[in-house]
Amino acid sequence: MKIFKQIAPLKAFLKDIKQQSKSIGLVPTMGALHQGHLTLIRASKAQNDVTVATIYVNPTQFNNSADLQKYPRSLDTDTQMLSEVQCDVVFCPDDHEMYPVESTITMDFGQLDKVMEGHFRPGHFSGVGIIVSKLFHIIEPDNAYFGQKDWQQFAVISQLKNQLMFNLKLHSVPTLREPDGLALSSRNLRLNAEQRQHADVFFKALTKAQTDLKAGASLENVKNDVKKMVENIPGTRLEYFEVADSQNLNLLSNVSESTTPIMCIAGYVGDVRLIDNMFFELILI
Ligand code: PAJ
Repeated sequence: MKIFKQIAPLKAFLKDIKQQSKSIGLVPTMGALHQGHLTLIRASKAQNDVTVATIYVNPTQFNNSADLQKYPRSLDTDTQMLSEVQCDVVFCPDDHEMYPVESTITMDFGQLDKVMEGHFRPGHFSGVGIIVSKLFHIIEPDNAYFGQKDWQQFAVISQLKNQLMFNLKLHSVPTLREPDGLALSSRNLRLNAEQRQHADVFFKALTKAQTDLKAGASLENVKNDVKKMVENIPGTRLEYFEVADSQNLNLLSNVSESTTPIMCIAGYVGDVRLIDNMFFELILI
């Protein structure tokens, strides 16, 4: 596995790969890797000759500097994990490499960054758009892989690709979960034993909402029930539970308003912010 910290040698290496007409798959990450990230690497390896993972905690996507400070960093373990799954290339630049000049650009994704994560984390998707654009420019991948766990991020990156005409294919990979349903996340490392026990409430709330909506409950009642379910647990707080059209992220007041609705949830267990989502299955079994 080749490890690059700088853009120039990485580009030189990839130029060679492209001259051999080999395909390149990109998996952008912020490190603190877990098995969820590794499913993206596996998906890329299955479809590309060369897989490039990037590890970079991108400051412009953190709207809260304490969150940036607390973000777990574990480069040695990360590279070890990537080498075990036979990732081909790791790019782990520092801030100077990625932001040699002060970043003044902002990106506006319209409706896609006004709701849910965009509403509660202003500026977040602008930062994601900037760093992902830089990575697409530097690596020029044929394919790029993102997790369904961050569905809104995927919707934003799809729009970024279409509007800036990046010539690549995007792939959304299903969320990997713990046996109790908790979506794997780097932030789970910050949960203590008791908080970890409660952290499956978001997945349970999504599952119950799905069942109740299918049984004909109104979205308004389901929203109230989700709030009660989450906030019945001491130290746990709901930030939002929304059902949206999965393509344009318009918020729905009734699941039948979209042919592809997605349920999205975010909240806190202690001071750890977790998000999750689930596509609403319209077909009644
Ligand atoms: P990060 O949070 O490190 O996530 C990297 C990728 O892993 C994202 O595409 C995310 O959706 C995916 N992922 C996280 N948990 C997952 C799980 N349980 N199952 C499957 N995939 C999962 O998302 C980012 O970093 C950043 O915003 C980034 C795109 C790298 C830009 O800085």
